[in-house]
Amino acid sequence: MHTLIEAEKNLAKKGFLDVEVAPSLDLFAEIEKLKKEKNAIILAHYYQDADIQDVADYIGDSLGLAQEAAKTDADMIVFAGVHFMAETAKILNPTKRVVLPDFNAGCSLADSAPAKEFKAFKDAHLDHIVISYINCTAEIKALSDIICTSSNAQKIVESIPERQPIIFAPDKNLGAYINKQTGRNMLLWNGSCMVHEIFSLEKILKLKTQYPNAKLLAHPECEETVLKYADFIGSTTQILDYSKRQNSGNEFIVATEAGILHQMEKDSPNKHFIPAPPNNACACNDCPYMKMNTLEKLYLCMKYGLPEITMDEELRLAAKKPIERMLEMSKAAGLIK
Ligand code: 13P
Ligand code: SF4
Repeated sequence: MHTLIEAEKNLAKKGFLDVEVAPSLDLFAEIEKLKKEKNAIILAHYYQDADIQDVADYIGDSLGLAQEAAKTDADMIVFAGVHFMAETAKILNPTKRVVLPDFNAGCSLADSAPAKEFKAFKDAHLDHIVISYINCTAEIKALSDIICTSSNAQKIVESIPERQPIIFAPDKNLGAYINKQTGRNMLLWNGSCMVHEIFSLEKILKLKTQYPNAKLLAHPECEETVLKYADFIGSTTQILDYSKRQNSGNEFIVATEAGILHQMEKDSPNKHFIPAPPNNACACNDCPYMKMNTLEKLYLCMKYGLPEITMDEELRLAAKKPIERMLEMSKAAGLIK
């Protein structure tokens, strides 16, 4: 067993509090106690483990999570998601303690846009405005004019005058999809998500012959080759809502991270959800970053208030502007209240 001081020293190396948790401890009950004691709220993304989704106060897509983070009056925000999501919550709540169960829970898409290279790219196209997908670091947000998520990207792009050139970063797949939907020709940063690029079109098409009535539901972070065959394309919340609404079919092939199946099966117990297969034998449609968070780490981070997200104030203020712009534009478009 480590002392807390040793565990805190270890935190810098490991990214999470390395403290033993007694196996007999009822983590669900302890987490409920800690929520009250610390006036904490647990915000979880659909890609989290089922246990974590089950203890969350709010589960949502990136837009819903940002909106919830913007309006909470809790003292502690426990972000069960990845680093850029917790960072967004901190940007919106500078005086609150924002904790992430595992500090190493990053994102391959956010990593695909290093700030220095992106700044040079932006400087080479000074007549362009920058719309960045929320899956990026605070530094990239600070270099952006507007942030978007997969549920509001199209509306946000459509609201920009047609003659205004746009850089879209960091996801080239979402950018290409929005270009196709809007007829724009946005300049795309060459980034992508490792989870959404792994789906095998060949195996999906085989599944479609096995389940001829199944609808293919895909996230716009997937490649165009997969999106071409999708019956519905949307953010995680939009995919979930679509599957709930469908009365005519009860089979769905789901081309996004497999964690979302937990809520789909909870909401529609009589429907059959099949995760889209990856192009190899591994469980690659699990996001390795999202899955770094565990119920034990969540309990520990609530108990000790660590690891905590902190940020330079100048960076925070610069990153806040385009997020606030996104929230205002989403309200104006009727996407959020
Ligand atoms: P949404 O939940 O906004 O659809 O985003 C998906 C995603 O990749 C989060 O990392
Ligand atoms: Fe990033 Fe992709 Fe994981 Fe989402 S699923 S956190 S975009 S690596």
